[in-house]
Amino acid sequence: MKKSDARRGSARRTVTFDAGRNEVALIDQRLLPHQLEILRLPNYRKTAQAITNMTVRGAGAIGATAAFGLAQGAMVFRGRQVPAFVRHVKAVFAVLANARLTAVDPVNAMRFVQGRMAAGTVQERQAAAVAAAQQFADENVAECEAIGRHGSGLIRPGMRILTHCNAGALAFVDVGTATAPLYAAHAAGRRFQVFCTETRPRGQGAALTAWELAQRGIAHHIIADSAVAHLMQCGEIDCVITGSDRVLARTGEAANKIGTYGLAVLARRHRIPFYIAIPRSTIDWHMRSGAAIPIEERDEAEVLGAWGVDARGVRTHVRTANPGSRARNPAFDVTPAALITAFITPVGLLGPRQLLRHRKALELPFH
Ligand code: MRU
Repeated sequence: MKKSDARRGSARRTVTFDAGRNEVALIDQRLLPHQLEILRLPNYRKTAQAITNMTVRGAGAIGATAAFGLAQGAMVFRGRQVPAFVRHVKAVFAVLANARLTAVDPVNAMRFVQGRMAAGTVQERQAAAVAAAQQFADENVAECEAIGRHGSGLIRPGMRILTHCNAGALAFVDVGTATAPLYAAHAAGRRFQVFCTETRPRGQGAALTAWELAQRGIAHHIIADSAVAHLMQCGEIDCVITGSDRVLARTGEAANKIGTYGLAVLARRHRIPFYIAIPRSTIDWHMRSGAAIPIEERDEAEVLGAWGVDARGVRTHVRTANPGSRARNPAFDVTPAALITAFITPVGLLGPRQLLRHRKALELPFH
């Protein structure tokens, strides 16, 4: 981006950890694109709440937040008894893992941290937790950069690329996945056009992806989710790149923001390549079927209304739907492997059936 902090004039990551104060600091994504505010969370329960209420969102960003939250929770343990410490950390893990259920990144990130705190005194394990969470965050950025290098070759001058929701720098610690090839190609001097779906009901595409692209000076248009079929039919979209919240290595299925499956069906119908860009933490090596992925169902208020700012810039929620009508709000769907052209990973482009073969290079070290 960079997401420069207006008050400090510095480049900012979406998620950081202040070890001295034992605080997790997050860009408050509920306020963007209208305000750039940093929220500091004083304890792991508040950190978990910030994941649930989407102060921070996007699989990679909530993964790093959970990793820091686990370290934050570990640090408040007082005492020298290792078994009691292990029980305490297990309880912290459960609170953070339950904050949002569809993305596998928080669980993978915390298993990575837990693996690093498996030996030593309580104090040594606490120090290891903080170091491991920071390592996870740093490696997440490096992986996104690698995705950019591998994916940028897909972006030719003049191309029209569709992306859905926000799989950008805000959805990770920095850089993003679906946006990484775009940012790398743009930095290399190639010019292209991006379509960001609005992404109802929460509008992550209209608010967050468009904000990121504007900051980078990348040409883009926001489109209604329902405009995709028409634009594809008119030959105005050359390629689709999205992120994912959970990719099943065994089947090649990918959970992502509601509407992704529909985009993949449309892309296949119009013979448009459909790529999903993912870091290592998004891969689930165990689950055997996409039908088993827990799909978060959120509050119906998100569908029945919308957040925005009024003419004075005051953030406000308005009801848009018929008063008294109820709504359903599944937040994710699952795209079958057959509709995915390739995953753009930190080790290169891989077909949906090739992930298992690359397990050694792609699995996070959990112990
Ligand atoms: O509900 P959100 O905003 O957390 O959903 C985010 C997405 O669906 C992203 O596309 C996904 O996390 C993949 S990129 C991190």
